Order: sequence, then structure tokens, then C-alpha cells
Amino acid sequence: MAYEEKKFNLPDLIDISKESVIAHLGLYAGYVKNCNALMSLEKELRGDAASNTHALAEVVRRFAFEFDGMRMHEYYFQQWEEGANALDGAGALGSALIQQFGSIVEFEKQLRSVGMMRGVGWAVLFFDPASSLFHIVWVGEHMQGHLAGVPIICGLDVWEHAYIAQFGAGGRNAYIDAFFKNLNWKVMEKRFSAAIK
Ligand SMILES: [Fe+2]
Repeated sequence: MAYEEKKFNLPDLIDISKESVIAHLGLYAGYVKNCNALMSLEKELRGDAASNTHALAEVVRRFAFEFDGMRMHEYYFQQWEEGANALDGAGALGSALIQQFGSIVEFEKQLRSVGMMRGVGWAVLFFDPASSLFHIVWVGEHMQGHLAGVPIICGLDVWEHAYIAQFGAGGRNAYIDAFFKNLNWKVMEKRFSAAIK
């Protein structure tokens, strides 16, 4: 049993270079590879768990980083598949966002502001069907701060690797502009429909 690297149907992106997408996809492939490597290493170490306690603890801790690195990048690249499509303000997701945030503009402003927080991580829009509430959350690295069992609607990667080669160290804001320009909101609308089923 192993994870497989997904292929994404990405168009030429607006304001995001092909080179930076290729490099970023290479990092994603590394998370998939490391996930598989950690699973087989754990199996091997469990053969003599008593002698391998410390090595096992490191492998177990490391797994969430590699797994969430893999999964978060799948959410991320899927959001650009098939090309940009505007959010339908009258659709289920658009209406729910407007109801909670007052407007789409205000929602984007809040997602951006979390995306501009200092540190390495992600700005993530979750929707909790149990309360019918969206939460915009800072996910540190790839795995810290997730809301247990709450579906992810949209993930904005703000690790420096996502933008520094093209936009420079101070280019996070310009990168976030480009991130929004390329979003295919149909993908997020589908995630929202699945969340409220
Ligand atoms: Fe990334």
C-alpha cells in the first residue's frame, strides 16, 4: 500500500510562472515519496519496537508533516485545475460566505489577512457543517491548527517556497493576488456541496 503522486490538469496560470509551478509540484512529489518512505520505515522499526523507541517516535511525529504536506498541496493545486472560474455569489457557497462575512470582498480580505500572518504555513477556509460556520484558520507548517473532522474548502499556501523564487522575499502579497486570480471556484463549490450533504 502506497500513496501515488496525483497529476493536476493545470492551465498556464495568470501571473504565476510555469517554472515556479514545476518547482512547487516537485516539492509536492517529495511529500508523497516521504510519506511512503516513512510508512515502510515505521513497519521495519516495529519489527523490534523495544530497541527502536526513539526512532519510532520520530517517524510517527514526522508522518503528519509529510502526510499533510502531501494532502494540503493536493487541495491547493486542484483549486487551479481547468482554469479560473469566478465564485457564483448566488450559489450555495457564495450565498453562505456572504451571509457570514457580509460580502465576498470581506471574506477575501479576511482570508488574505490570515495569509499575510508571519510564519510558515497556510491560510485555510474550513466549513463546519455541525454549526454551519466557516472558520479561517492559520495552519502552521502543514499540520498544526487543523480543526478536527472539519472539511477544508480552500487552502492558500503561504510557505516561502510558493512565491519567493518569482516574487521575492517581500512578495507574499503579490503572490496572494495571483493565487486569487487563478482560482477555479467550481472546485470549492463542489467541496462545499460535499461538506453540507
Ligand atoms: Fe507549498
